[in-house]
Amino acid sequence: MTAEKAGFDHFMLKEIHEQPKAYRDTMGSRISPDGRSVVFNELHMTTDDVKAIRRIHIVACGTAYHAGLVGKAVIEKLARIPVETDVASEYRYRSPIITPDTLVIVVSQSGETADTLAALREAKRCGARVLAITNVVGSSVAREADDVIVTWAGPEIAVASTKAYTSQLIAFYLFALFLAQTLGTVPADEIAATLAALNKLPEQVEDILAAKDAIKAYAEQIAAHEDLFFIGRGLDYAVALEGSLKLKEISYIHSEAYAAGELKHGTLALIEEGVPVIALAIQTDLFEKTVSNIKEVKARGANVLGIGYAGDEELQKSVDRTFAIPKTLDLLAPALSVVPLQLLSYYASLARGNDVDKPRNLAKSVTVE
Ligand code: G6P
Repeated sequence: MTAEKAGFDHFMLKEIHEQPKAYRDTMGSRISPDGRSVVFNELHMTTDDVKAIRRIHIVACGTAYHAGLVGKAVIEKLARIPVETDVASEYRYRSPIITPDTLVIVVSQSGETADTLAALREAKRCGARVLAITNVVGSSVAREADDVIVTWAGPEIAVASTKAYTSQLIAFYLFALFLAQTLGTVPADEIAATLAALNKLPEQVEDILAAKDAIKAYAEQIAAHEDLFFIGRGLDYAVALEGSLKLKEISYIHSEAYAAGELKHGTLALIEEGVPVIALAIQTDLFEKTVSNIKEVKARGANVLGIGYAGDEELQKSVDRTFAIPKTLDLLAPALSVVPLQLLSYYASLARGNDVDKPRNLAKSVTVE
């Protein structure tokens, strides 16, 4: 078993470290040799098929749902198609408007999650086209969908998903760019610039991993707490949700992810002296607003870790400590900012003496509804 972990103490830590390779493999030959366009040979979608898409529904569970929240933002921004993201166990029961011009994207690492599979079947029954994003070639979801984008993350053993989530993000970036280039919603030079930034991500993840001791030290401090908060706006909020889920899954510390601007409408009542708050302040357009939300929690005694771009002095001045991620396009930042949060939950779980790879009550794949 130790050999399978390639020298790492746990599968989760090994899988966190495999992310640069998972990013590269998922991009693979899907970027043209000149770096200017996305090539999806495996998709059967013609230009007319793409033009006929009026709305997109993204349906998934757990961590894959959180990837879908990023997917929604990215597709809407780049391709200007309206997108809704739903938890699969809710989707079928809310009478969603599924028409033949709806593209339903199901996201599932295993490709076997019962609720996700049921949503896929419902979408097909209503005549929608279904695209599956999955890590398992030949899984039920892959077999039943009209089109499949395989994430090449390799087998994921730890129950807490890491490299599967980030390779789902890469799949969404590529697919959104594919839609944009087909529809002409983004100029060719901007597509090339985004692809160049995507190509840099694996190396940037290596840089974050090299700084993991700083996260470990912080995780050991928060391991003594029972409650903490993640805050962020826009894409930072989507990542906050995933960071909070990861921490709950394996450290059993209660945490909530909050849209930073919504705090004052209730949750601020829970902030008191010494409560740890992890604030993601990456999205440039929302930065000032997030900093003012950080000030709200600081004024109530919170101890704030700020996650932002390297060299951000304004953030440094507003928080107790910072963890920096390398500069990238704001749209791509989730693929970097989630990595310190994965490490945080790993080290917090370890500090609490938990079974990191097999948390209580949870299963890797849930095949019952
Ligand atoms: C389980 C796992 C989660 C995962 C979810 C969806 O609950 O513990 O880590 O995100 O299922 O799994 P899927 O295989 O559909 O991505």
